[in-house]
Amino acid sequence: MTRKKKRKLKKNVERVLICSLCLLAILVSVYFIKNAKKWAGGMNSQPDDPTVTQAANNKPSGNTKNPTAEPTATPEPKIPIEAENKYTHQGTAKQEVVPGAKVSYVLNYPVFDNAIATEASMQNAKALLSKELETLPENAKSRIWIDYEDSGSKAVVSAVFHITKEVDGTTTESVSEWVYNKKKGESFEAKEMFGKLAYEYVVKRVTETVGITEGEDGLTAEQEHFPYFLLKEEEVEFFYLDGGKLGSISIPYREVYTYMAVTPDGTVRMDNIRELDPNKPMIALTFDDGPHINNTPRLLSILEKYNVRATFFVLGDRLSWEGSEEAMALMAASDNEIASHTFSHSNLTRLTDEQIEAEFVKTRNKIYEMTGEYPTFVRAPGGNVNDKVKALSYAPLINWSVDTRDWESRDRDSIVAQALAGAKANRIMLMHDIHTCTVDAAEILIPKLLEQGYQLVTLSELFYYNNVEPENGVLYRAADY
Ligand code: NI
Repeated sequence: MTRKKKRKLKKNVERVLICSLCLLAILVSVYFIKNAKKWAGGMNSQPDDPTVTQAANNKPSGNTKNPTAEPTATPEPKIPIEAENKYTHQGTAKQEVVPGAKVSYVLNYPVFDNAIATEASMQNAKALLSKELETLPENAKSRIWIDYEDSGSKAVVSAVFHITKEVDGTTTESVSEWVYNKKKGESFEAKEMFGKLAYEYVVKRVTETVGITEGEDGLTAEQEHFPYFLLKEEEVEFFYLDGGKLGSISIPYREVYTYMAVTPDGTVRMDNIRELDPNKPMIALTFDDGPHINNTPRLLSILEKYNVRATFFVLGDRLSWEGSEEAMALMAASDNEIASHTFSHSNLTRLTDEQIEAEFVKTRNKIYEMTGEYPTFVRAPGGNVNDKVKALSYAPLINWSVDTRDWESRDRDSIVAQALAGAKANRIMLMHDIHTCTVDAAEILIPKLLEQGYQLVTLSELFYYNNVEPENGVLYRAADY
């Protein structure tokens, strides 16, 4: 290549380069001019960081408006809603007031110091709300209020939710129940709270007290398992529908306690029923007149040794004696059954109504005070029961089908012989843990009964495996009669 040619080529290359640079400069300028306005509005923003962009755009400054954004439609006005405070919350409540263009709502639900319980409560409330939201007509304007009454911070929380829904000006009301066992950390169905006999009892009480009857205008079939109730301090408030309106009646625990599958202290009755072989015979050993400072704890350790259970009919009067507190604590902790033998061991059939009631109530309260549990059954002293005693009893009455006559013989071998002679499936045996000879007899009797194939059970277990739901004021001598 000649020098001339080389120079010419160099010039051409230079021209191309210059032109390219010019073009680039023009393009860059155009780009800058085009975007200048945009940048002016968002100088501080980092477009890669959406949160910052949003924050910048949310600034109330006049510069933050984005002229390239679609012109927004005027937002629909929100439906005004006010929180009503019609119901009493025993514990702490959480309230959400959420206004919207199509639906506004107020949601109240109980919160607890226990995070798991609070979460369960929130889930329940949100589920109630979703159910209501799902059923709203598409183009309607609606308002929903969900509020509740509750039983405070007992081990078992019961809450009745009142739901008010207003759709295009028409209001409807409904009710829902939430029951939660804080002790077990789980919600459960309201109908699991009471046995079927409770329904019959409450219907009877409502019919008598309020004067409404079962049928079209009165108690309805859906009432069957008490969807609505509140567990209060001393009573249960049952709600019922009377011609579409919600009414309620309060019934003391002592009248419905034996029908409760879950007690107010959170004990699930079924938890105390062991898994036993329903095809193997069962016998319920019962011990009366205690507790005794030495004999009762010794008997409890024998029961534990053989992994069997019994029922103790304790005497109210003796509960303040020395050593009773320890004996009762052992009894409650061992899952043996605690029942009432009344207070003063009097023949109830010779007492006035007030005296009989006092015998029952004083003992029940004392047992509750000491163990946190109500007695499940009552045994009248001497087994003396008449219609008056039955009518006043707040629990099923229990007598016996085998009398070991320990109170008479006071002899270990005689007690064992009497017990073995009477042993038969589903029978209830009478003994007294105040006598040392009876505890000595138990030490021999229990392994013998086990050898014969009997399962030694509490009264609740005996009835449960015989499909018997014991009724208040009814006298039982065995599981089946
Ligand atoms: Ni007695």
